[in-house]
Amino acid sequence: MTSDENHQWRLARRPIGNIQDGDLVWDQESIPSPNDGEVLVRTIYLSLDPTNRIWMSDMDQYMPPVKIGEVMRGGAMGEVLETKHPGYKVGDIVTGLLGWQTYSTVHGDNIRMSIPHQKGTPLPAWMSVLGLTGVTAYFGMLDICEPRRGETLVVTGAAGAVGSIAGQIGKIKGLRVVGISGTDAKCLWLKEKCGFDATINYRSADVSAALRTSCPDGIDCVFENVGGSVFDEILSQINLRARVALCGLIGQYNATEAVPGPYRFANVLMKRARIEGFIVSDFAKRWGEAIKELSTWLADGKLTYKVDIVDGLQNAPTAVKKLFDGSNDGKLLVRVAAEP
Ligand SMILES: NC(=O)c1ccc[n+]([C@@H]2O[C@H](COP(=O)([O-])OP(=O)(O)OC[C@H]3O[C@@H](n4cnc5c(N)ncnc54)[C@H](OP(=O)(O)O)[C@@H]3O)[C@@H](O)[C@H]2O)c1
Repeated sequence: MTSDENHQWRLARRPIGNIQDGDLVWDQESIPSPNDGEVLVRTIYLSLDPTNRIWMSDMDQYMPPVKIGEVMRGGAMGEVLETKHPGYKVGDIVTGLLGWQTYSTVHGDNIRMSIPHQKGTPLPAWMSVLGLTGVTAYFGMLDICEPRRGETLVVTGAAGAVGSIAGQIGKIKGLRVVGISGTDAKCLWLKEKCGFDATINYRSADVSAALRTSCPDGIDCVFENVGGSVFDEILSQINLRARVALCGLIGQYNATEAVPGPYRFANVLMKRARIEGFIVSDFAKRWGEAIKELSTWLADGKLTYKVDIVDGLQNAPTAVKKLFDGSNDGKLLVRVAAEP
């Protein structure tokens, strides 16, 4: 790989089921030059997210699907190398939808400045707890779950980038927090480092019985990341006027047939519960509010986070699969270039 070319992953075909070799193709072109209003950015960290699988598909979604032949869409952080936008100078660290590529030109209005006011915070923090996944947890918990001290919260995908922060916000707000995750090691981390009150390994436990034991007063808030049979069990144990923040359904992003359920839907009626889907971009105008409070909690030692960094853009299509077999251990990032 030479540094005077822009290396890219392009979508070659829509995956069927799990992402396969050949769904994305490795390509290169010359490094682009910015037009008026644009900046040239060298990518440092690429964020790999479950929604990459949604964007690769042509299912009904919240953004247009990536077109066949296009550079794969992806959130990323990079360094400004050249600028034709008054809001940025060379050397600024910015984040935005820079794509699965080593260099990009992007309009200055479509990116945001990362960091600076807090020197000493590692760059990966701005791609995790202080980035999109942290902000997702923040608004999902506070605006959708509307937590009240003393209530019980259940988080699925609890050890992940979003789930682990959502659960810790639950603790900050005085809730009993129960996390559901897929390995004993992740469950241990949630209890010992993130302060969760109880955890359930959905692969080995009787989830229905474990929920009854862990949530003796029933479930008031749900931060849902997965869907499927575990979500059904949760719905069967909700309290009157429970709130469900429907953040994600990762258990079905690779589905090749229509997904049935939830089967316990009637309980939403019986318990006058509210299930509300949300996308973090709905809260774009309030991003600063979330970052301010998350930064304070982080500085005060109230938030713990983990990042799982894979080296090399060429490894992105293999690495993204970790999200779907649970082998990622924290916010999944690709280090595309060394930090400046
Ligand atoms: N609404 C929004 O704006 C928004 C923004 C960001 C993310 N999200 C959603 O939030 C969820 C978590 O995303 P993330 O970025 O934080 O990823 P993550 O949780 O760090 O990684 C994905 C995790 O999902 C779990 N998982 C994968 N397939 C599963 C399955 N079939 N059944 C049960 N668990 C499964 C695995 O953990 P285990 O080891 O525990 O199985 C895996 O480690 C996703 O659903 C994503 O789409 C939504």
